[in-house]
Amino acid sequence: MIEVNMLTKSYSKKLAVDHINFKIDDGEIFGLLGPNAAGKTTTVRMLSTILKPDEGTAIINGIDVIEKPREVRKIIGVLPEEVGLYDRLTTAEMLLYYGRLHGMDKKIIKERTEVLFDKLDLMDFINARNSTLSKGTKQKVSIARAFLHDPSVLFLDEPTAGIDVMSARAIKDMILEAKKQKKTILFSTHIMPEAEKICDRIAIIEKGNIIAIGTLSELKSMTKKKDLEDVFIRLVEEHT
Ligand SMILES: Nc1ncnc2c1ncn2[C@@H]1O[C@H](COP(=O)(O)OP(=O)(O)OP(=O)(O)O)[C@@H](O)[C@H]1O
Ligand SMILES: [Mg+2]
Repeated sequence: MIEVNMLTKSYSKKLAVDHINFKIDDGEIFGLLGPNAAGKTTTVRMLSTILKPDEGTAIINGIDVIEKPREVRKIIGVLPEEVGLYDRLTTAEMLLYYGRLHGMDKKIIKERTEVLFDKLDLMDFINARNSTLSKGTKQKVSIARAFLHDPSVLFLDEPTAGIDVMSARAIKDMILEAKKQKKTILFSTHIMPEAEKICDRIAIIEKGNIIAIGTLSELKSMTKKKDLEDVFIRLVEEHT
């Protein structure tokens, strides 16, 4: 379970995330939606201990991100917005490296890499150096890395952005599978049909504030709109 309390971050004087609050239950898929520059990536980076909040806190499965970031890192899988891969390593070597950091056995890393690469149609690239990969392929390798150590919490920043239809479907299936295993998933997206399809609850963030939060049907009745795109536009326009 994730508990976010008054989480806040500014860059110089620019307030990027402004005292936000929400909870996500185990086995819940939580969508973070918002226009460009709304604060989604900043939120994900604070939750994944990459960025230290100025104020407030986030507790992940009972562990505080500020007090025990290293403990948090053990139980989370993260897809950052900017995919950073080690250029000189092959995809399999990089996953081996990450798996070892998480204390995984070499044989298990290899098996798990093959399962994930098979799902994501990456087997052709298992011996390719990261520097030679296309943008979407890099993103998929980064998704495999996020899932590698079977984390109980996943933070995915626009997981299907720039991804082909088949692989986007595979990623959605991986998220739904993670939900079945009672994992907690927060992901950000600009793809409304995707959020509509797989999210249990959705938060809409605009200019660092959560302006609405609820199930799809709650958001629809709140705005008297029929689909999420209309709901989203209505809420964001009301707020600006
Ligand atoms: N490293 C940084 N330095 C200064 N300002 C930043 C930095 N990162 C983000 N910001 C600012 O913080 C605000 C929130 O940015 P953030 O990246 O969290 O938005 P986002 O919702 O993820 O947007 P997008 O949909 O474009 O990915 C923006 O105004 C952005 O310009
Ligand atoms: Mg972003």
